[in-house]
Amino acid sequence: RKPVTINTLQSMYRKGEPIAMLTAHDFPSAHAADHAGIDMVLVGDSLAMVALGMEDTSEVLLDEMLLHCRSVARATKTAFTVGDLPMGSYEINPEHALTSAIRMIKEGRMKSVKLEGGAEMAPTISKITTAGIPVLAHIGLTPQRQNSLGGFRVQGKNTASALKLLEDAYAVQEAGAYAVVVEAVPAEVASLVTKKLSIPTIGIGAGNGCSGQVLVQVDMLGNYPPGRFLPKFVKKYGNVWGESMRAIEAYRADVKSRAYPAPEHTYPMGMSKEEFAEF
Ligand code: KIV
Ligand code: NA
Repeated sequence: RKPVTINTLQSMYRKGEPIAMLTAHDFPSAHAADHAGIDMVLVGDSLAMVALGMEDTSEVLLDEMLLHCRSVARATKTAFTVGDLPMGSYEINPEHALTSAIRMIKEGRMKSVKLEGGAEMAPTISKITTAGIPVLAHIGLTPQRQNSLGGFRVQGKNTASALKLLEDAYAVQEAGAYAVVVEAVPAEVASLVTKKLSIPTIGIGAGNGCSGQVLVQVDMLGNYPPGRFLPKFVKKYGNVWGESMRAIEAYRADVKSRAYPAPEHTYPMGMSKEEFAEF
């Protein structure tokens, strides 16, 4: 496969071919996504929780994101990469945001950046895209703003909120975003936004009418302990946690019973029995 570029994404959009995007947070998870033919790999700030064990995304630093972005970039040969700008790295002013975006490209080795926000972020999106860095916008439920949204709530449910979503979508498109993530929005509203726009929408919890979809890789793989809360939109495509437990428990039991290592896992000796007896 040829590397996915911004032109590839545009042509998929024109043809109505859905864009498949997935997060990755390190070399192995990026390798898997790329190998499976994913179009866009996102180093989401969700890695704060899924890779670093933080409470929410507000804790992760740009420097920490950059380390993970670099490892993802090393494994991603085909997919178009997106580095998520973490909270605190882009809000102060467009110049500050551009400085962070440049670091995402130069140090993180990403092909594009993502930032949360609608109309209010238009000057920032414009500043970054003018510098030649593609921007993926993110509207609807914006997790970095959970405290001002009053938690993880579905957006665009009533007329005023749906209208705001549409205005945000137009604003980020006008500002030069190459696509926009639409998170936790009723399917009908997300479909309408998709129809009105001339850039792709990437849905997460936004129904089947978007131009593409994104999920957090550890969630869709089922790579988490039982009992963890998951949003309604997550479909569990695997049971990686179950498979890991099976394998690790079997290894542990084999060590305890001395079933492992077996002769086939053991190096032969080069000495004769006589030589060994003297040694
Ligand atoms: O951080 C993340 O993983 C994201 C996607 C789920 C859109 O922002
Ligand atoms: Na994110």
